[in-house]
Amino acid sequence: MAKTAIITGGTVGIGYELSKLIAADGYDLILVARNEKTLKSVKKEIESSYRVQVETLSADLSDPKAPKKIFDFAKKSKAVVEILVNNAGFGTSGRYDRMDLEKEMDMIQVNVTALAELTHRFLQGMVERKSGKILNVASTSSFQPGPNMANYYAGKAYVLSFSEAVYEDVKDDGVTVTVLCPGPTKTEFFERADITKSKLLNNPLAPMMSAQSVAKIGYDALKKGKPVVIAGIFNWLLAQSVRFTPRFVVRKIAKFINQNG
Ligand SMILES: NC(=O)c1ccc[n+]([C@@H]2O[C@H](COP(=O)([O-])OP(=O)(O)OC[C@H]3O[C@@H](n4cnc5c(N)ncnc54)[C@H](OP(=O)(O)O)[C@@H]3O)[C@@H](O)[C@H]2O)c1
Repeated sequence: MAKTAIITGGTVGIGYELSKLIAADGYDLILVARNEKTLKSVKKEIESSYRVQVETLSADLSDPKAPKKIFDFAKKSKAVVEILVNNAGFGTSGRYDRMDLEKEMDMIQVNVTALAELTHRFLQGMVERKSGKILNVASTSSFQPGPNMANYYAGKAYVLSFSEAVYEDVKDDGVTVTVLCPGPTKTEFFERADITKSKLLNNPLAPMMSAQSVAKIGYDALKKGKPVVIAGIFNWLLAQSVRFTPRFVVRKIAKFINQNG
């Protein structure tokens, strides 16, 4: 394989739009998601639209063995991984004590632990070659605590802090780490999280953006090697406002917005 990009959750939503943008720039792709049927159809679509090769790997990132499986798969296919996009993620909603514990622990594995392991594994080769770019998908949730979505918000806070720190660690070695913070975006995320009645979907302060425009903002920032990018002016303003608002007020507003009904 030629220069390659690995995209987790590259089959629908923001990840799918990122996959097309990266393919358009001539990168071969390794797409990772669970649903094999979707993986196959996206492979077919991208290979027929762009002059690139697409490999697919069905893996469940809630399985702690998945990151190594992905790394070994890339190694076996002799891919020179120039871009890693840690995009796969999901949310849940409700009072934390009433949440399904197994699902909450899976969320930490997918949204946090797998992202940290994949970053570590692929960073090694990038630093050795003095070339590579990583895009981690966080959220505007990264900037404040989120009652009713406690674990999701906390995980995204980790992704922001972790990515910025690793950016500083490796920036002098020709490798950049960019963290993308989208606000509410039109994807399958809300149905999957069973939060279709949340005020997040109808918040006049942060109107929903398309996955296409969010992906473009993220990919442009990755190409420029920017450490942090917040998708859209409304989301940027909201993220800034949190810094000047008392913490107890921020918590109350987040609790109100995250109500699912
Ligand atoms: N949509 C929003 O409003 C929003 C806002 C801020 C941040 N984000 C973040 O943006 C990222 C992408 O979200 P999206 O909105 O595009 O979501 P989406 O439409 O639900 O897509 C999620 C993608 O991740 C994959 N995925 C989910 N769980 C997985 C697992 N256990 N193992 C492997 N792959 C898995 C899915 O494929 P399979 O189901 O086939 O596995 C799918 O390709 C996430 O990290 C999300 O937290 C989204």
